[in-house]
Amino acid sequence: MSQLKLSEEGWSNQTIFILAAIGSAVGLGNLWKFPYITGENGGGAFVLVYLACILLIGIPVLLSELALGRAGQANPVQSMANLSRQNSASPLWFLLGLNGVLAAALILSFYTVVAGWGAAYFFESLQGAFIDITPDQAGTHFEGLLHNPYELMFWHSALSLLTAIVVAKGVKSGIERAISFLMPGLLLILLVLLGYATTTGAFGQSFGFLFYPDFTKLSWAAVLTAMGHAFFTLSIGLGTMMVYGSYLSRKHSIVKAGMWIAFADTLVALLAGLVIFSIVFANGLQAGSGPGLLFQTLPIAFGQMTGGWFFGTLFFALVVMAALSSSISLLEPAVSWFEQNWDIKRLKAAWLLGFIIWVVGIGSVLSFNDWADVHFLGERNFFESVDFLTANIMLPLGGLLISVFVAWVMKQEQRYAEIELEQGAMKWLLMDLRWIAPVAILIVFATNLVGAESTWVMVTVALVVYAVYVVNAIRNGHLNG
Ligand code: TRP
Repeated sequence: MSQLKLSEEGWSNQTIFILAAIGSAVGLGNLWKFPYITGENGGGAFVLVYLACILLIGIPVLLSELALGRAGQANPVQSMANLSRQNSASPLWFLLGLNGVLAAALILSFYTVVAGWGAAYFFESLQGAFIDITPDQAGTHFEGLLHNPYELMFWHSALSLLTAIVVAKGVKSGIERAISFLMPGLLLILLVLLGYATTTGAFGQSFGFLFYPDFTKLSWAAVLTAMGHAFFTLSIGLGTMMVYGSYLSRKHSIVKAGMWIAFADTLVALLAGLVIFSIVFANGLQAGSGPGLLFQTLPIAFGQMTGGWFFGTLFFALVVMAALSSSISLLEPAVSWFEQNWDIKRLKAAWLLGFIIWVVGIGSVLSFNDWADVHFLGERNFFESVDFLTANIMLPLGGLLISVFVAWVMKQEQRYAEIELEQGAMKWLLMDLRWIAPVAILIVFATNLVGAESTWVMVTVALVVYAVYVVNAIRNGHLNG
């Protein structure tokens, strides 16, 4: 058997690893998406469901993905190939890794575009563009940005370039260095903004909105949104945590790291929510304005407040920094795959892949203007298609397969070697990974695919297939129960 190329690089220490993983998890998902989906879905009850999803699906899959990376000791594709051999499973499991690498690259292609809105707003806010802006002007301003492909291209290119530069330098001199100044900066800005939020006079209202559950406002669709978002926000399902885990030494604890990552990510989402809704409510604005919450509603609010120029600018700096620590983690899976499996030097791999992904991203830039009416998947334009394909299909698929591999295929010794849990806790985790997580994911998956009307038919079929697979595989001795 030819010697498999393994990850040679590693994290300097456990703390920097946890910080980098938190950096990956904390991103546009926390600052942009979580607040607006919470606003759209009525607050408290949605937040409660979201927290349950993090606990019951997010954390178990996160621990599993980190474990797969460290046990496989390579990029996602190679890790899964190594693991299937070690556990005498089908070699086709490498496809799980490939799905992750591809999807991460696809997400990156539009992630830099949305992060670019944040960068544009940072500079505009700095120049005072939002002072005393009216709601109409704020709307026109955002639309003006989206309708200007040149400006979008400029920011998309700038963020793609920064991402490639960091990843090209490698784990220690690239990712670690970027993380060690991005993360403290992020924390500091968040705390300053939190302090500011308490002075707005609407902090209590914001707190009530987020933490007082009104279940009459909760819909089935909201539950599905919360589940999907739990995956996105923790960066799981796509090999990011697998690569980061592959650089983790055996001395360190995956369980401890995983808990920290989930805790910090959730905390940042909730704090960002508190800050944003305090500012929005203090100015008598609505929480449920959708994706425009950050780029339309918030500038109006900042524009009306004393100190709004300063704190608004700071806020958009936060968005860009958080996005950058995530975008590097979206490029890393593909780069490590090119480096290890195709023997392409990291520097070349980062630039080559960065370039290809940047080109794909142009499709998303144009989706807001010239290509707005060009349809790809169904009625969706390019941006919507890539978002749908990754977030609604490839991501849940990745999560599902990760839980199935760890819960059924992986040998018991390997499980215990990677996930440092006592027997009782491990039993619990396995139960969750075998039945709760996969079933929940299947439901989301089916609904995303066929729409709410025929979900139950799909789910029933999927569950039967899943049960037959498990029973059969156990009979044939292929599963490691
Ligand atoms: N978690 C990041 C966010 O909340 C986005 C992200 C980074 C991601 N790496 C990922 C999402 C891997 C899915 C998979 O913005």
